[in-house]
Amino acid sequence: MGFTVLVTAATGKTGRRVTPQLVKRGVTVRAASRNPTAANTGVEPVRFDWLDGTSYPAALAGVDAVYLVSRFLVDFVTDPVEQVGTFLHDAADAGVRRIVLLSAFGAEHAGADNPLRSVELLVEGSGMASTILRPGTFMQNFSENHMFDLVGKIRERGEITLPGGRHPVSYVSTHDIASVAALALTEDGHAGKEYTLTGPAALTLAEVAEHISAAAGRQVRYVESGPEPIHETLHASGAPAGFAEFMAHLYIESTTSGAMAAITDHVATVTGRHPTTFAAFAAGAADAWRG
Ligand SMILES: NC(=O)c1ccc[n+]([C@@H]2O[C@H](COP(=O)([O-])OP(=O)(O)OC[C@H]3O[C@@H](n4cnc5c(N)ncnc54)[C@H](OP(=O)(O)O)[C@@H]3O)[C@@H](O)[C@H]2O)c1
Repeated sequence: MGFTVLVTAATGKTGRRVTPQLVKRGVTVRAASRNPTAANTGVEPVRFDWLDGTSYPAALAGVDAVYLVSRFLVDFVTDPVEQVGTFLHDAADAGVRRIVLLSAFGAEHAGADNPLRSVELLVEGSGMASTILRPGTFMQNFSENHMFDLVGKIRERGEITLPGGRHPVSYVSTHDIASVAALALTEDGHAGKEYTLTGPAALTLAEVAEHISAAAGRQVRYVESGPEPIHETLHASGAPAGFAEFMAHLYIESTTSGAMAAITDHVATVTGRHPTTFAAFAAGAADAWRG
């Protein structure tokens, strides 16, 4: 019998990289999206919408393991507990045996009422073998779809305009997160494990801008700001009232705390490879910043 993995947020920055790595390992992937489209060999597209509970059982039927992208902040959601609780209940009913959860850096230090931590606790208490991934900030936030629209502003104005950029952050590549996820979903030995995933170095936003400039062959600079650019971008993209303020506060608090500069060896321990450097990421993503 084959092994089938449901990949949630399969079109997202991690999910779209988890899928091909699983296919390479001989796994059948059920690729979940609100708008599923025809996919490659080994990939079954499936409609899945967190806002439609009737889509959960069909997506989960016949699935052995799930790559679960935390519902927190996806689609402007700050309270994911009820939907994730229902999903895990349906997953247990469907006979799912393994869950790999994409959470976020530092969630283990938050109280049980924190949305990220409460989802972790739900997964840990689900009765399924579980692995928690806690990545730091993604490198691909600068080059792909992200709620702050960083890539659009780099392309149009040659600027990264954000608060707190003097505080270094150990940005991690979603390719490395996907590699860890694919191994945790298919290999033995990861049940009950928690991995904090970071890049190999902590960078200020001025250093990030230098790497992007070098890769793209054009000048990109960091402009220090208050929370206003985050507010404006989120308001313009239709975020509900209050979400923009919440998100700006969360971003500033986590970045300026200094905690996001921490570096772990968990990517290398699990994959046997050094984590991607920002320079290597930027070289591969350069087209995104070239107008
Ligand atoms: N970005 C970071 O730096 C970072 C760092 C640490 C942790 N995280 C966590 O990673 C998660 C992903 O965040 P991201 O911003 O990077 O997003 P992402 O995974 O790049 O993209 C969002 C994904 O969510 C799916 N989605 C949106 N609304 C949905 C809905 N109603 N039902 C089902 N799927 C839906 C979209 O799929 P379709 O449009 O195809 O349906 C898309 O694939 C978040 O929980 C975040 O807290 C992010």
